[in-house]
Amino acid sequence: MKIAILTGGGDCPGLNGTIKWITKTALDPKLVAKRSVTFDVLGIMDGWKGLVEIDPDDPESRARHLKYLDEDVVRTWDRYGGTNLGTSRTNPFNPKNDRSEKLIDNIKKLGIDVIVTIGGDDTLGIAHKLHTLGIKTVGIPKTIDNDLAGTDYSLGYDTAVNVIMEEIDRLRTTAGSHSRIFVVETMGRHAGWLALHGGECSGAYIILIPEYPFDMNRVCELLQEREGMEIRYSIVVVSEGAKPRGKEEIVKDTKVDDFGHLSLGGIASYVADEIENRTGFETRHLILSHLQRGGAPSAHDRLMARWFGIAAIDMIINEDFGRMVSLVRGEITSIPLKEAVAEGLKVVNIDKYYDIERYNGRRSIL
Ligand code: F6P
Repeated sequence: MKIAILTGGGDCPGLNGTIKWITKTALDPKLVAKRSVTFDVLGIMDGWKGLVEIDPDDPESRARHLKYLDEDVVRTWDRYGGTNLGTSRTNPFNPKNDRSEKLIDNIKKLGIDVIVTIGGDDTLGIAHKLHTLGIKTVGIPKTIDNDLAGTDYSLGYDTAVNVIMEEIDRLRTTAGSHSRIFVVETMGRHAGWLALHGGECSGAYIILIPEYPFDMNRVCELLQEREGMEIRYSIVVVSEGAKPRGKEEIVKDTKVDDFGHLSLGGIASYVADEIENRTGFETRHLILSHLQRGGAPSAHDRLMARWFGIAAIDMIINEDFGRMVSLVRGEITSIPLKEAVAEGLKVVNIDKYYDIERYNGRRSIL
């Protein structure tokens, strides 16, 4: 059986480890002896873009868009962030430029039997569409936003939360020395997980998330409450998708990607200016941006990469196609891709996890 692997959407730590464990498990000589099927593993460069743009009849194009994977090639991959297969935000089903016929034709010409797709809701949405068109697909969840439905965990999230915590630890010394307020902007699109968990584990004083439009007066009131106390600075974490009450999200520009998404960003600067203007407290801001997706994977992401990769091969052997590997209550399982992509994004449940008075995580858990 020929397995193709591709990574799509924003990169993150954990992708390379997953590719390694899909490959190792597929080609493991001890397992091969016990199976009735043998595998070839083919990496597709640059996500769906590679599979759309390749000319299967042209050797040069094949060399550019394909990477044959074996145990030697992937041996050290789990230590490194990013994706050695490259990624893109290409949508072959984009109604403005529908290239799905070419995609399906290429899959057939390349003799691909099953595609393992590692991605978030957009990339896995394509895997789901292909499944409905008769192509065998298996999905693996990844997104630092951790907003994919049907799984408690998506690759890259833990590393990103650690980056937020480490950077805020660093900021504290300079913020304290200068008695300044620092507003730190995280990624996360329309889900507040990164800001909430990153803020909670770094002890941020205020956390602003997309799920609860904030009142700037309340933010300033909370900061003023601290005046005269021993604490000389405050950390405010704001998710890129957070919005002041009655206002829209702040976007970088009007450009949309192939899936129709605008680029969010800039809310930290708005909040910092408002705080300084309204309270007179010296305030700076920092946008963590793509640093959150960079660096080596955390221990948790390496473990999840391994488990998700191994599970994908189990699913192929069991012919569980059109499904996504998922982590539910600490156990690896799988759910239909349709459930992961059609249910809408998994966002923060305010009643359960957010304190709307303190603008922070709740202080009641049970
Ligand atoms: O979905 C992952 C994510 O990192 C979001 O948190 C962020 O809004 C977006 O991707 C940034 O995308 P790009 O890499 O295209 O700037």
